[in-house]
Amino acid sequence: MSSSVVDAVELELAEPYLREVLGSVGLDVEYVRAAGNSLFFIDSGGAEVEVLDLACGFGSLILGHHHPAVVQRAKELLDAQIPVHAQFSRHPYANELAGVLNRILTREFGESEPYSAIFGNSGAEAVEISIKHAELDRGIRVAEAVAEVEAGLNEAAAAAAAGARIDAAVFAAAGLPVSAGFDAVASAITERNAALAARGPVFLALHGGFHGKLVGSIQLTHNEGYRTPFTRLASRCRFVTVGDVIGLWQIVEEERQVLHGLTVTDGAVRLTERDLPVFGGFFVEPIQGEAGIRVLPAEFGTEIGKVCEHTGAPLIMDEIQSGMGRSGAFFASSKIGLRGDYILLAKSLGGGVAKNAVMLVRGERYRRDFELVHSSTFAKDAFSCHIGLKVLELLEADGGAAYRKAAERGATLRSRIEAIRDDFKDVVLEIRGDGLMLGFEFQDQSTSASAKIAETAQAGFFGFAVAGYALRTHRLRLFQTASAMNTFRLEPSIDLTDAEIDRIEAGLRDICSLLRAGDGDRLLGTA
Ligand code: F0G
Repeated sequence: MSSSVVDAVELELAEPYLREVLGSVGLDVEYVRAAGNSLFFIDSGGAEVEVLDLACGFGSLILGHHHPAVVQRAKELLDAQIPVHAQFSRHPYANELAGVLNRILTREFGESEPYSAIFGNSGAEAVEISIKHAELDRGIRVAEAVAEVEAGLNEAAAAAAAGARIDAAVFAAAGLPVSAGFDAVASAITERNAALAARGPVFLALHGGFHGKLVGSIQLTHNEGYRTPFTRLASRCRFVTVGDVIGLWQIVEEERQVLHGLTVTDGAVRLTERDLPVFGGFFVEPIQGEAGIRVLPAEFGTEIGKVCEHTGAPLIMDEIQSGMGRSGAFFASSKIGLRGDYILLAKSLGGGVAKNAVMLVRGERYRRDFELVHSSTFAKDAFSCHIGLKVLELLEADGGAAYRKAAERGATLRSRIEAIRDDFKDVVLEIRGDGLMLGFEFQDQSTSASAKIAETAQAGFFGFAVAGYALRTHRLRLFQTASAMNTFRLEPSIDLTDAEIDRIEAGLRDICSLLRAGDGDRLLGTA
């Protein structure tokens, strides 16, 4: 480009350090075109080179790059001069999008309770919207609980004034000697309740879980490197190991808090207790993405449902990566029969050309006042909503042929990579996932016989090294998951062809051979 504005840029200011890291393994490629499962760059000779993209927008391209019908719709919308921005006006397209999502929800979960929709612009924003909405709701429930428990204080005061006996447990709970009078006890109880009510929520999330990188959402993302520098900024989250039922209930018990109140029974003033709603929400990915593509076992899902029921914590189902058909169902959570109180979508909702996200919250939990206190300039815009509607139309067409395709293509790809695992058990640890959300986990290479490979793995660069090699040698865009460094994600579009599957298999087999041979020079391109 030669415009004066571009000529004036001398320093590299847009994340130059990341570029340096990517550059060290040959990943700092500028892609100039995208279509289907392919990205294209121009090589030094000026020729266009095709790369098979298995990262596919970090799982946001269920229909691939530039699906022709989506592009056509985008052109129509812009040619028709639809008002992209018409904040504070009627948004029938947003309503339609919410309506279609509800129809799918009803079909997949067999329940007809409507879910209200609040739109946003990114996955992390949908998560933050749910954090806020859940806290608005919890705040109201906390206030109701305090009011309920303190309703007996006046009656108790009258009884005490008339000489009623005050139970010793009342003084013990207030931390006062039995010589303290009723007024001291009542104000201690009120103060204690107020202090408890003023506490922030505690969130629950799963070990390895990923829910975004903004101020609130990063605290729900398990990866310590991403999370711990920012713990001071937001509410606390307790992480539960998937499968650890005892540990899960132990956390529930450890975090339990009770409000105190007074009642008069059998002529004596006695203590009452009521559980405080301490949990802001339980965040769950039905297929964990960044944890290394791990399908949530249905039995543990049932236990999570029981905890939510027991504590009143809303179940917040993060379908940002797993949703939109990738698993072979629109909602992966429907396959384990775990219906969230909240359901979050983003990524593929934008059809690869827009940015869109939505928090769906079921009617019984919905606080409509939220609509007056939350907003975003770009949310619910006409362009993104119309594109979202087109994506849903394409996914729902022919009785859900797209979901069947995701399941079939996924199963075909899976059987091929499982065959690689069988041939390379010394190198491949496990294949996981569902539909077109698959994970290919290598054995830990930090003890590889090759010093170069071992050092690369110990430095945490194994994933980047493999990604660089796959791009250089096989023209494959293959990335590790964010928090499981040996697992590579395969999240192509439903239009994945047999020829593309052949390429994936050939590339992975070659990488396995290289690792088996301990050929660090070839991996790192230093030969
Ligand atoms: N929730 C899940 C399950 C995600 O996978 C992601 C993003 C987010 C929330 C946050 O979405 O990036 O739009 O703010 N996952 C990316 C990935 C980082 O690599 O798949 P965002």
